Amino acid sequence: MPQKHKVVVTRQLIDEAQKLLESVPGLNIVQWPTEQPADRKWLLENAKGASGILLMLSDICDEELIKAAGDSLKVIASFSVGTDHVDRDALKKRGIRLGYTPTCLTDAVADLTIMLILMAQRRGGEAISKVQTGQWPKMPWSPLLMTGPQIRGSTIGFLGFGRIGQATLKRLLPFGISRVVYLTSEPGQLVKEDHFGLIKGAAIPIEPAKDWEQLACESDVLIVGCALTRSTKHLISTNFLSRMKKLSVLVNIARGPVVDTDALVAALDKGEIFGAGLDVIENEPNILANHPILKQPRCVLVPHIGSATIETREQMATESVKNLLAGLKGEPMVNEVEL
Ligand code: DGY
Repeated sequence: MPQKHKVVVTRQLIDEAQKLLESVPGLNIVQWPTEQPADRKWLLENAKGASGILLMLSDICDEELIKAAGDSLKVIASFSVGTDHVDRDALKKRGIRLGYTPTCLTDAVADLTIMLILMAQRRGGEAISKVQTGQWPKMPWSPLLMTGPQIRGSTIGFLGFGRIGQATLKRLLPFGISRVVYLTSEPGQLVKEDHFGLIKGAAIPIEPAKDWEQLACESDVLIVGCALTRSTKHLISTNFLSRMKKLSVLVNIARGPVVDTDALVAALDKGEIFGAGLDVIENEPNILANHPILKQPRCVLVPHIGSATIETREQMATESVKNLLAGLKGEPMVNEVEL
């Protein structure tokens, strides 16, 4: 890389990734110094003259940032699979490449999805809270105590059925689920994108839903795994939830705004669904202790930890750096978004 490039990195990186970045000769690295999200003002000021920016899902990459960087900007490397924080059209217009990390976090997020399904069906949050608040002595074992629906025999609904959905299905098959119904934006793509060879020749029916109503009505477990777009925002609405089965659970491992939180709180209040397991929620991380969702005993909420295994975060960091460097050199990235 003969020409000196400025790169802006919006977080401290895990050791191996940091070493890789620092090993590149002639790179002027400007890096946010802490584990906390980078300050927007800092990012805008420092972007000026940058050839590449490595950023997190909490950093908005929009016209303002692209303009602040100026004509030198060649690449955005996002430390994430989701890219709803990036204005793709603005990048495309300027011929700026976008790297992301869609493959290395599949297992970690699929594992967490299983945890959330079981927590929601088996009332994990409520059960732990009862023990921790000293209520167990008042609720001795009884046949109906803390009962919930069983995963065996469930119809699993997938809203979005890409890598993470399919890796979740792989884990669910040994539980004895009976059927899968899915809704994707491009149903025809699925044959090409049968990532684990599960769909063709599966032992249980795996069928496309004709519309969201069918997905809502037929799922015992509904897994939200789609990208956040204009058409998926609040797709899980009052109307959607009112069509779900009373013993069904909703799991969101995608992006918070796909689910209308007020509608979810109301559906849980009215007993329209049995429970929910959320890794993400609208307006995260600004969820204070008095938020109505936290008053729902049958809702388990964890703070966007889907990809939070040590191995996965190391790989995401390294892959982001590789994407950044490939973008600077004009070489193929590990994973690049087709803009
Ligand atoms: C991502 O990378 O988009 C995930 O939400 C992180 O868990």
